[in-house]
Amino acid sequence: MEKVVITHRPASTDDLDQVANIEAKSIRPPWSKDSFAKELEKKHSHFWVLTDDETDSIVHGYVVFSFPAEQAHIQTIAIKHDSRGQGFAKQLLRAVISYVLRKKGESVVLEVRVSNTAALQLYQFLGFVISP
Ligand SMILES: CC(C)(COP(=O)(O)OP(=O)(O)OC[C@H]1O[C@@H](n2cnc3c(N)ncnc32)[C@H](O)[C@@H]1OP(=O)(O)O)[C@@H](O)C(=O)NCCC(=O)NCCS
Repeated sequence: MEKVVITHRPASTDDLDQVANIEAKSIRPPWSKDSFAKELEKKHSHFWVLTDDETDSIVHGYVVFSFPAEQAHIQTIAIKHDSRGQGFAKQLLRAVISYVLRKKGESVVLEVRVSNTAALQLYQFLGFVISP
């Protein structure tokens, strides 16, 4: 069986329906499709989606982060329900961190609810430090 390769690329307007759908099922309160569309226009915003290399048609997850200067701020990240538990969030966040370091950024920050165990474990696994 051929292995499907999942990689990230910049999002486009064609991805917005799938992204908004994943967001609506993943995050409370969710961003609207319009909010995601606005991120495509913002100068310092980076909006990436994870898709398979072969068909590039199914969005498995996404991340939006702003990176105006030294510090990058992850605004939202989610993985499609049936694509979870396969290391995709780890892969996406590692890509964000290496991009920020390559561009001479100094830190990556995000906010997470203390009740969000999965996300907390993920961030701690990747070396994020909790600040009150
Ligand atoms: C949090 C989320 C992005 C993780 O995505 P994922 O692709 O399933 O995560 P990964 O497979 O890359 O897992 C990476 C690590 O995260 C942790 N993790 C992921 N899901 C977990 C779960 N359900 N329970 C506990 N830890 C979990 C583990 O440490 C895991 O490492 P391991 O597989 O070696 O144990 C996903 O569950 C999601 O989209 N949640 C809803 C949206 C959300 O909460 N976003 C973050 C807002 S701050």
